[in-house]
Amino acid sequence: MLDLPPDELRALGHYVWDRLVDRWEGLDAQPPIAPVQGPMAIPPAPDGPSDPRQAIDFLFDEVLPRGQRGDHPRFFARIGSPSNPISVLADLIGTGHNVFAGSWTGGAGASAMELAVVDWLRGWMGMPAHTEGILVSGGSVGTLTALAAAARAKAEDRDQATGYVQEHTHAAIAKAWRILGFNPANLRVLKADPAHRLQPAAIDAAVHLDREAGLQPFLVVGTAGATSTGSVDPLNDLADQAAREDLWFHVDGAYGGPARLTAQGAALLAGIERADSLVLDPHKWLFQPYEIGCVLVSHRGLLEATFGLEGAYLRDTENDHVQLRERGPQLTRSSRALKLWLSVTTFGVNAFRDAIAHGIALAEHAETTLARDPFWEVTSPATLGIVTFRPAHATDEETDAMVARAVADGFAAPSTTRLNGRVVARLCTINPRTTERDIEATIERLATT
Ligand SMILES: Cc1ncc(COP(=O)(O)O)c(C=O)c1O
Repeated sequence: MLDLPPDELRALGHYVWDRLVDRWEGLDAQPPIAPVQGPMAIPPAPDGPSDPRQAIDFLFDEVLPRGQRGDHPRFFARIGSPSNPISVLADLIGTGHNVFAGSWTGGAGASAMELAVVDWLRGWMGMPAHTEGILVSGGSVGTLTALAAAARAKAEDRDQATGYVQEHTHAAIAKAWRILGFNPANLRVLKADPAHRLQPAAIDAAVHLDREAGLQPFLVVGTAGATSTGSVDPLNDLADQAAREDLWFHVDGAYGGPARLTAQGAALLAGIERADSLVLDPHKWLFQPYEIGCVLVSHRGLLEATFGLEGAYLRDTENDHVQLRERGPQLTRSSRALKLWLSVTTFGVNAFRDAIAHGIALAEHAETTLARDPFWEVTSPATLGIVTFRPAHATDEETDAMVARAVADGFAAPSTTRLNGRVVARLCTINPRTTERDIEATIERLATT
């Protein structure tokens, strides 16, 4: 029951992999974002069996083409996910084993692998050797996990605790703040400086006022690569300030953190290694398929103190090893480490470093191309693979319409954001398969479509 003969399984596996390789080979000819369609008809659950090939074709042909192709070389919207095929194989291998990475007993191999991969990430970020961490589904859950640990360590009274972010800090922080039971009114959203960075002086002033009002300043969040512009908050200054004011220093490196592997990124991200907690998203700029995020906490034992759990039914799995169920919200959890391990092992760290550097250089190429043409105004310089711009004399409605036309045209997918109260267009160029010509053609078509 619930099985197929081995020969049929082998044939189906080959069929699926062939179709996937066809997809990757043909990606360039597809639109990066499919036109938005209404709801689709999903057939009711059949009582009897049906042909798996037909069902697989339905997924490939009808279901999965609807939406974005975040690995398309001209997907420049929001933050893409330029995945790699080797990691897809690792996910298949892990799922094929139904791997359990929640306890040492349940998955000693997977646990050892995760600890090793988390330690790679720690090392790449320059955090101290005693840092501990866990892989999670992505940046949002990573943020929730990190702030839960921070709250456990430092927030005496969640009603009175205050936090300091800036207008371009990702909404995942406010969401975690709310979910964890902090008072939403006590998250201070400070005005950024002209380079879209958090201003330490603004934090000083707000902390002072909050203390005077009897509140309990608790958290400062530095962003290492803001989603709108790529801007990096002054991490060393924030780390100094957090130490001085006894605040928890959380860094959101979900998208930008991996740039520390490059010389240029390391210079920009100086201070990231001083975080009390740091979130990274390998499913962004480490080229992994969804879902893999990482939380790193530089306080030994704090994750276990926050997420430890006991149950008589777990007695037989208690031992002296790390139990990953105690480092995050999930008990039953699959292995997210396999894909990062297999892809890094296959291609080598230098290939990742070069791929990140390529993304940084592409945004710089976009900026140079835009700056050459007086039709465009560059609204924020190329930073960590993101550049923003708009037609110099356009209204917000015209900029919106230009980007919408480009997406509908199906050649490339830029996106928009708001900067200084204006709508601007935005290219996030982190895909290693994107060429300079892709960038130039996208900018040409934006001006003319
Ligand atoms: C800076 C930053 N933080 C957090 C997140 C949220 O991450 P996720 O979408 O993986 O939950 C994102 C997503 O783009 C991001 O860019």
